[in-house]
Amino acid sequence: MNNKKSEIQISVNTALQASITPIGIDFEMNRLRLGENYCCIFAITDYPSECDYGWLSKLTNIPGTIVSINSEPIDNGEAVNEISKKIRMYRGQAASTKDPRERQRCQKAADDQEKIMAKMDQNGEVMGKWNTTIMVLSRDKEDYNSRCDRVKNVASILGCKIRVLSNLQREGYQQISPTYPQIKRIQETSSRYFPVSTFVGGFPFSSGGFNDGKGFYLGKNSSGGLILLDLWKRGSSRTNSNITIVGGSGSGKSTAIKHIIASEYARGTKIIVIDPESEYKDMCYNPLFEGNWIDVAGGKGGLINPLQIRPVPPDTDDENAEPQENDSIGDLAIHLKTLQTFFRLYIPSMDDRLRALLDQALVELYHKFGISWDTDVSGYSANQFPTLTDLYNLIAEKAKLKDNNTVYYEDLKTYLEGAANGADHRLWNGYTTINPTSGFIVLDTKSLIQMSGTVLAAQYFNVLSWCWEQITHDRKERIMLVADECWTMIDPRCPQSLEFLKNAEKRARKYEGSIIVGTQSTNDFLDPEVKFYGQSVLDLPTFKLLFSMDGKSLKETTELFNLNDAQSEYISSGQRGTALMKVGNQAVIVRFELSEERLEMFGRGGGR
Ligand SMILES: Nc1ncnc2c1ncn2[C@@H]1O[C@H](COP(=O)(O)OP(=O)(O)O)[C@@H](O)[C@H]1O
Ligand SMILES: [Mg+2]
Repeated sequence: MNNKKSEIQISVNTALQASITPIGIDFEMNRLRLGENYCCIFAITDYPSECDYGWLSKLTNIPGTIVSINSEPIDNGEAVNEISKKIRMYRGQAASTKDPRERQRCQKAADDQEKIMAKMDQNGEVMGKWNTTIMVLSRDKEDYNSRCDRVKNVASILGCKIRVLSNLQREGYQQISPTYPQIKRIQETSSRYFPVSTFVGGFPFSSGGFNDGKGFYLGKNSSGGLILLDLWKRGSSRTNSNITIVGGSGSGKSTAIKHIIASEYARGTKIIVIDPESEYKDMCYNPLFEGNWIDVAGGKGGLINPLQIRPVPPDTDDENAEPQENDSIGDLAIHLKTLQTFFRLYIPSMDDRLRALLDQALVELYHKFGISWDTDVSGYSANQFPTLTDLYNLIAEKAKLKDNNTVYYEDLKTYLEGAANGADHRLWNGYTTINPTSGFIVLDTKSLIQMSGTVLAAQYFNVLSWCWEQITHDRKERIMLVADECWTMIDPRCPQSLEFLKNAEKRARKYEGSIIVGTQSTNDFLDPEVKFYGQSVLDLPTFKLLFSMDGKSLKETTELFNLNDAQSEYISSGQRGTALMKVGNQAVIVRFELSEERLEMFGRGGGR
């Protein structure tokens, strides 16, 4: 047996070696030459005791530099010993020196260390041992010098102490190499104790960037990087394509919505906007969209007959229920439930007896129109359904019968008078006329605001249920439903619309649907009467875009979305067109930097 080890000869690929190694490295005392580059390696030797949020990013984003940060978790006990040693040392130096400037410097250093100690003691801060090295490089000597000055300036503005690694340029260069080695001599000279949270807070929102690599351009992050968003991507914390948008008036919510819908529309998504402030009209009429603008507050071509049965794939609250389990419930039964809610919103004062009689009358009415419990109405056209006049006439006939129920039918007739013949007939009485032909639909609800609360609530619900039919109509077609300034539609006395929205948000993903809820106030959603649904409506969406806000909304938003101090602070002082985006636990700043042409495309709505 041959026990001799066989040696494998690996020939050196000199071409490769030459292309990846610098032409030459020459280390001097305070700098190094890397090929044609002038380089210098600095180390941070002291950190400030108080830092602004995101402070470190200022240091890590200087052009022409490479920064390496090493951290080492440490035992707090060890840190306390080290820190108290330092405090004694600085205090001693302060007492013994005659130079007033030196004394002041030592006192400040001791105070800073004491602050860190207090943080550990009182707030349970965890300490880390940090080591930051910065390499400046440039081919041009003058440029190199100015970059070095820049680094020193930035460090001093941040309250860091920085020094050139004298006689340690070689080690510093090794430390900075991409394999992150821990070079002992560098650690010894420049590692410092520093609270972990302050250091981590030095990176804006720690997770830094957010980029799906595909989708559409959403905006820029805080360091100017592009954020591409693919709303339809699924992942652990991305379970749906819905977005919550909160922010004060004028903070940029509607502009962001317009930017998102224009981008999605361009990718083939169908858009439906419910617009209570009449600010999507210009955009809708823009030749790029050629949308259908529909006044659903009594305008021509904007009638949605509440009695038209809109077949909706049934579903239960159980997310995983198979649709066929509910197939036995027919279209009529489901629609009767929708109608019960509709009439409850429209006529809240109707008592149970009247409601029961109304239900009976509705069933009878549908039977007269050839629609029974198991009729499949999917092929029916709008004029095959009864209208409110038909319902009113049926009830009037029953009132004439002079039996025990006559007085109740008379009451019912009175209640329905407004919808059938009175002020509200333009909203509801007739065959459905709304018949959008484009993929960009704006349902303007502005005039509803002037109507009574009950009419507003009932019509909003009617509009929502029409929208839901559009979403569920085709499981494969992507649809985005926008409810901007959604708070205008919430009435604490009738949570049904919020319940509907909540269910829609939960189920939309099954139908390739995305729901955007925009609001300037969170208060209306969190009113104790409706909070059960309202909180879910805000919280269920995967994406939360939080624009600048203050007061109660800021407080509620901070609590609801578990924002940390820095995030909350950020949105309290945020600029117009800038938002904090939360996706699961990730948070990132989005600056909606849009071109003039793009803003022009959105039209004048919103006060441009
Ligand atoms: N990202 C942005 N870039 C430029 N202008 C913006 C931006 N966001 C908002 N604006 C302008 O600010 C004003 C208010 O914005 P808007 O989106 O209507 O606010 P909100 O819907 O929050 O009340 C509008 O005139 C809009 O053109
Ligand atoms: Mg707006």
